Amino acid sequence: MLLTNPFSEIATTIPPVFMQAFVIIMILSVIISTLLDMAHKKNAKYFFINLKKSKEASKRKVSASKKTSIIVKTVASDIMTTSELGVGQRRVAHLLGMYGSIIFWITSFMMIFFYSSPSIITPNFLTILWHLGALMTCLGGYWFWFFLRVDVSAEGHSWSRIIRADLFVLSLVTASTFALIWSYFQYSGLTIISSLFLILFVLSNIVLFGGVYWSKFAHMFYKPGAALQKNLSEEDGSRDWLPEPSSKPKKFGLGIKRESARHY
Ligand code: HEM
Repeated sequence: MLLTNPFSEIATTIPPVFMQAFVIIMILSVIISTLLDMAHKKNAKYFFINLKKSKEASKRKVSASKKTSIIVKTVASDIMTTSELGVGQRRVAHLLGMYGSIIFWITSFMMIFFYSSPSIITPNFLTILWHLGALMTCLGGYWFWFFLRVDVSAEGHSWSRIIRADLFVLSLVTASTFALIWSYFQYSGLTIISSLFLILFVLSNIVLFGGVYWSKFAHMFYKPGAALQKNLSEEDGSRDWLPEPSSKPKKFGLGIKRESARHY
């Protein structure tokens, strides 16, 4: 199973050009929905107004080399290791889901565009990475869904309670889950069941990429911008108009240790 490219297996019934058109429509949907979301939330406008205001409030000039090192640090730490999530399960689960999805999307793209014809042999590393990416997404996504979601871990709601904000994580994990089940049944030669899971896989992708305007999908574009802006404002002293951290020792009394802060 790990060594089969499920897209080339179905190429005799679904021409590769249809699969490629589907991928292009999904990519266009993400771009258009993100632009519409930005226009609706006015977050790009806010970002540039804020940038101008923090430039005026800056206390130090940041040299070009310092700016470059801040950008490198933001990419290496805030973005690639999602350091905003601190140390712990939340960050590990997020990294699994994030890298799993990136691997799954890139390998899906390559298998559909370059190896979906049955006459071309797909390299083993691609098919293995495709399955591994889906598995990592499931691990990170279900970990988050069952145990780490604020609604479940802090607010005491049941994991089965679904609200609109869950659209992103749910469509992300179901797409990967259905992909793995589809691949398994296709490998086992059970054509009817595998077709059913292929349809579910396609539908969950339509919800994932078609629902960007209503879901949290676009956070993966917004968060890096916000992290860069925060790091630059700390360096130039404007600090988003927040006070400098105190140099005095923390004195909150013993009460603060009774329970960790997790009520939002
Ligand atoms: C392929 C890229 C990414 C994927 C698939 C992904 C996936 C997810 C998922 C499934 C969630 C949970 C959403 C929910 O609350 O329902 C989430 C939350 C979050 N993501 Fe991402 N993400 C990606 C990129 C990023 C990047 C680049 C950053 C930061 C620079 C980031 C920072 C965050 C933060 C801070 C949260 C909130 C976490 C929490 O509430 O525990 N993500 N992400």
